[in-house]
Amino acid sequence: MKSFKSAAWLLPQPVLIIGTYDKAGKANAMNAAWGGQWDNHEIMISLGSHATTDNLAEIPEFTVAFATTETMVAADFVGIVSGKNTSDKMEKTCWAIEKAPNVNAPVFTNFPMTLECRIKQKIDESETGYYLIAEIINILCDEKYLADDGKPDVEKMKLITFDPVHNNYIQLGKIVGKAFSDGKQLK
Ligand SMILES: Cc1cc2nc3c(=O)[nH]c(=O)nc-3n(C[C@H](O)[C@H](O)[C@H](O)COP(=O)(O)O)c2cc1C
Repeated sequence: MKSFKSAAWLLPQPVLIIGTYDKAGKANAMNAAWGGQWDNHEIMISLGSHATTDNLAEIPEFTVAFATTETMVAADFVGIVSGKNTSDKMEKTCWAIEKAPNVNAPVFTNFPMTLECRIKQKIDESETGYYLIAEIINILCDEKYLADDGKPDVEKMKLITFDPVHNNYIQLGKIVGKAFSDGKQLK
């Protein structure tokens, strides 16, 4: 086994698109890989100092969409360009924008699934950012991505993950097993 020094290499990483409004109601989006979830109600994101951070200081509500192969180029674009100095950032993505039904934040309807969130806590806040903990108020899923049981069908979404080792985006593949079940074979 080869050894490497510590790095942000928890695998696989999500590609989260955070949607916010500024105080004039103008939508913005940014890409975030360093986020996660540990229960049914809250998510965590490591947030630097961005236009998004300024927006959240005014309106502590946002959306989180999961990037797909189709949205990949613009999803990367919103991660390398700031709304602070690019006033037509959202026009360049060509994403369709609607107000979220339950929070004061934009929904980008080109994405199959979106969380509506409200900030609950900011940890270690400084001028360089903070660790954000937010409550999930609601989950939206485009009907065309629902499975026969009425729940979101992840395999249909062509979601991408972020590979921080080589800075690649990788499309999720096929279902290979059943969680909480296949392991029973070894009981
Ligand atoms: C793959 C990728 C992952 C990123 N992950 C994060 C992250 O987890 N947290 C963060 O604060 N910024 C992250 N960024 C950087 C922001 O998306 C970037 O600074 C963006 O331009 C901020 O946009 P804004 O200033 O319009 O809000 C990431 C960028 C990329 C491309």
